[in-house]
Amino acid sequence: MRTIAIVNRKGGVGKSTMSTHIAAGLATLGYRVALVDTDSQGHSSLLLGMPDENGLFKLLIEKQPLENVVRLVPTDRYAPTDHPPLGELFILPSSEKTHQIPHQLEPDESFLFLQRMEEMAEHFNLDVAIVDTAPTMSPLDSSVYLATDGFIYVTECERLSFDGVQTAIEHMERFGKIRRKYLQRDSRIVGIIPNKLRADTRLHRHNVSQLAEAFPGLVWTPITLRVLWAEATNVSELVYTYAPSGVEARDAWKMVENTVRMLESWQTAETN
Ligand SMILES: Nc1ncnc2c1ncn2[C@@H]1O[C@H](COP(=O)(O)OP(=O)(O)OP(=O)(O)O)[C@@H](O)[C@H]1O
Ligand SMILES: [Mg+2]
Repeated sequence: MRTIAIVNRKGGVGKSTMSTHIAAGLATLGYRVALVDTDSQGHSSLLLGMPDENGLFKLLIEKQPLENVVRLVPTDRYAPTDHPPLGELFILPSSEKTHQIPHQLEPDESFLFLQRMEEMAEHFNLDVAIVDTAPTMSPLDSSVYLATDGFIYVTECERLSFDGVQTAIEHMERFGKIRRKYLQRDSRIVGIIPNKLRADTRLHRHNVSQLAEAFPGLVWTPITLRVLWAEATNVSELVYTYAPSGVEARDAWKMVENTVRMLESWQTAETN
C-alpha cells in the first residue's frame, strides 16, 4: 500500500476537499482506498456525509481493533448511481479527541501510526491510503510523516499559501532522513495542486508559473475557484455526484488521473 498525505501548513486551502475527491476518484477507478483523517476538525467524514467519530483516537490510544473504527463508505456517497465504483472506499474518521492523541501516545510509540496503517492495509487489502492532515503542526504529524510515502501539496495561488507548502516540504525532508535511516524507505513529492485559481487575475497566473518554475514537472493543472465546490460541501456531497458533468468534476478527475499516473510510475520504478 502507498500512503499519500495531503498537506499544507496553511488553513482552508482545500486539503480536505481534495483528499476526499482523490480518495473517492481512485476508489471509483478500481483502487481499494482508505481515507485517513488526522485532523480533529473531522472534515473528511463531513464531506462524505459519514458520522462524526473518534476513530483515530480509538485506534491509536484505546487500542480498539480496526474493524471497530474503519467504516466502509456507501457507494452512493461518492459515485453517481449509473457509474458504480470498481473499487472500495473506507474511512478512518477523526473527531475532537484527535487533539489528545499526541499527549497520550507513549514516547516509544512514534511508529504506532505506521504500524496501524500497515495492519489496515493487510486487513482490508488496500492499495492506497490518502491522509487528510491538519493545518497546524502537532506531534501527531511526526508519526504521520514517518508513515507517508508521498505528499500532495494543495495550495491557493497566493504567496502565503506557497510559504505553507515550503514549510511542509522542509518537514518532509526532515522526516525523510529518519525514514531512510530507520525504515530504508524514501518519501517523495507526488504533486502540487494550485487550487482556487482565478484565471482572470494576472497575479494568479504569474504565481502559478513561478510555482511551476520552482518545482518542474510537479505542478498539476490548477483547479479553478468555483462556488459549486462549496455548494457540494454544503450538502455533504462530492462534485462527482452533485454535478457529474460540470467543470468542477472534470477538474477533480484530472487530479485523480495525475495521482494514478504517479502511482503507476512508482510501481514501474520499483519493478525495474
Ligand atoms: N476550487 C475551489 N473553489 C471554491 N471553493 C473551494 C475550492 N476548493 C475548496 N473550496 C472550499 O474552500 C473551503 C475550505 O476547503 P477545505 O476545508 O477543503 O480546506 P482545508 O485546507 O482542508 O482547511 P483546513 O486547513 O481547515 O483543514 C471549503 O468550503 C471548500 O468547499
Ligand atoms: Mg481540512
